[in-house]
Amino acid sequence: MTNAVETQGLSKHYKNVVALEGLSITVNPGEVYGLIGPNGAGKSTTLRIVTTLLQPTAGGVKVFGIDVLDKPEDVRKIISYLPEEAGSYKQLTGREYLNFMADFFDVDDSHRTEMVNRGIEIAGLDERIDDRTKEYSKGMRRRLLIARALMTLPKLAVLDEPASGLDVKHAYYVRGIIRDYVKKHGVTVLLSSHNMLEVEFLCDRVGLIDEGKLVDVGSPKDLTRKYNATNLEDVFIKVTEGELAKGTVRPERGTGGPANALGMKANTTQGSDGGPGTGEGSDG
Ligand SMILES: Nc1ncnc2c1ncn2[C@@H]1O[C@H](COP(=O)(O)OP(=O)(O)OP(=O)(O)O)[C@@H](O)[C@H]1O
Ligand SMILES: [Mg+2]
Repeated sequence: MTNAVETQGLSKHYKNVVALEGLSITVNPGEVYGLIGPNGAGKSTTLRIVTTLLQPTAGGVKVFGIDVLDKPEDVRKIISYLPEEAGSYKQLTGREYLNFMADFFDVDDSHRTEMVNRGIEIAGLDERIDDRTKEYSKGMRRRLLIARALMTLPKLAVLDEPASGLDVKHAYYVRGIIRDYVKKHGVTVLLSSHNMLEVEFLCDRVGLIDEGKLVDVGSPKDLTRKYNATNLEDVFIKVTEGELAKGTVRPERGTGGPANALGMKANTTQGSDGGPGTGEGSDG
């Protein structure tokens, strides 16, 4: 069976920063795979390379057997990507925005209508779908963007912190949508998250990355057992504290003690990460 995503020895070096160092991960078709790791671990960098937006310094990636470096345009046809921070065209209503995005796809009228209706349903904004997006709250806008990413029925949806900035209620809604949608349409999802509740709820498997390297991989349950932990948050702390003990966690990656340094969020809200390139792929 062809892997949905396969990265091999992926490295990305910026001038003096090593963002990724020989990262190899495999995502199976139909699974929800979550990348977790502290701020600056290389999650968004990985997702940008997988989605053809960024060239690696070394290594390779295949998406459903298609080489991302050789045939980026073929990969783009079967994926969708929700960036960490993205905007919507403020003067458009939610419905107009989804219609506008649907225009980029080479589909006939009836499929296009189907696509937009699916997006409207996923967004779940009811009559507010006809308000201009500049009048939306952050959570409403994020729901619209998730709807945009999922309405096209991609083979692979790449979601960078899908519930970022959402309150408990909106985050719950979004997670439910992602889970139902995946089950119903057999879509493969590669996501990143700081929220361990979210990851335990959504992901079949998680890859723990730190300093651009894969530290461990497994189902939330298996990892919890392996590290004799009570939950995934506990696993995360144990694994990364091991790294701290080895002195491999750079202090500037955090904002305080270990809990902060790990970028852990105990609830569903998510602060701004201020990371570089976060506007990439932004659509307005
Ligand atoms: N355009 C860039 N120029 C220079 N350094 C960069 C650039 N993009 C990312 N980096 C660096 O690469 C490393 C990995 O960043 P990345 O955004 O992938 O982390 P992340 O795991 O997504 O973090 P977060 O949890 O904060 O979103 C960081 O040290 C970051 O500063
Ligand atoms: Mg990121």
